[in-house]
Amino acid sequence: MEVVVLLGAPGAGKGTVAERLRQTGRFRHLSTGDLLREAVRQGTPVGQEAEAYMKRGDLVPDEVMARLVEERLRAGADSVAYLLDGYPRTLEQAEALDRILQRCRGRLPHVLFFDAPREVLRQRLAGRRVCGTCGAVYHVRNLPPRREGRCDRCGGALEQRPDDREETVERRLEVYQRQTEGLIRRYEMCGLLRRINAAQSLEGMLSDVDRHLGAAGDAGQGAGSCLPRGL
Ligand code: AP5
Ligand code: MG
Repeated sequence: MEVVVLLGAPGAGKGTVAERLRQTGRFRHLSTGDLLREAVRQGTPVGQEAEAYMKRGDLVPDEVMARLVEERLRAGADSVAYLLDGYPRTLEQAEALDRILQRCRGRLPHVLFFDAPREVLRQRLAGRRVCGTCGAVYHVRNLPPRREGRCDRCGGALEQRPDDREETVERRLEVYQRQTEGLIRRYEMCGLLRRINAAQSLEGMLSDVDRHLGAAGDAGQGAGSCLPRGL
């Protein structure tokens, strides 16, 4: 199994890029945010625990996330390639992912880091709309639907994500800076980080991603985690 981590601030475009790559048939998209939102909707024990953290814009506890991710990765066949969107987000989660990959004999050839200034992130989150039926993501200005307020794919009503309200966005950006940004250095040091300019058009981002993933097939030989050799 191969896992490509998508790292970046809220609104950087991780989910949008992952969805486009999923449509090529090369990857499965595993978004921890989407898994949690689904758990909240269904009222599962994980959803009940996660809801309050998500509403505030805080991170759900590391142990809950590790269980959720391992369960999903284990359910896939060895030949599957995953885009892991939104995990890891803390140092503890990065270490947990290394252990999970060891147990599942998985490889981590790249960490794609989506880099954009705060003003771009705020503008993207403020204008994001999501289909309440199928989950497709739009932006009122940047990626508008053909018919206002309606999903192109299924005709469902478009909604604003509850955590995209201004106060919660500020909290999420602060949490990202405090708890997640440190991972950039970690993955840079083990040679896995591929920096993507996320302040450009979606097509531009996709072409940068493609370039990195193309090169990765060869460069990834023997790579797989930040674990010291021999572990
Ligand atoms: P999650 O759902 O992962 O949210 P996030 O990380 O805050 O990221 P977003 O989904 O907001 O942004 P994105 O980068 O996917 O941007 P998108 O592609 O939609 O997590 C939500 C919550 O769940 C967390 O706050 C936390 O509570 C919990 N959680 C999740 N994972 C966790 C973990 N590992 N540990 C603990 N807790 C966890 O794009 C944004 C907008 O911009 C869209 O409208 C899009 O159309 C537009 N857009 C995208 N690209 C472009 C472009 N190039 N040009 C113009 N517009 C663009
Ligand atoms: Mg997302």
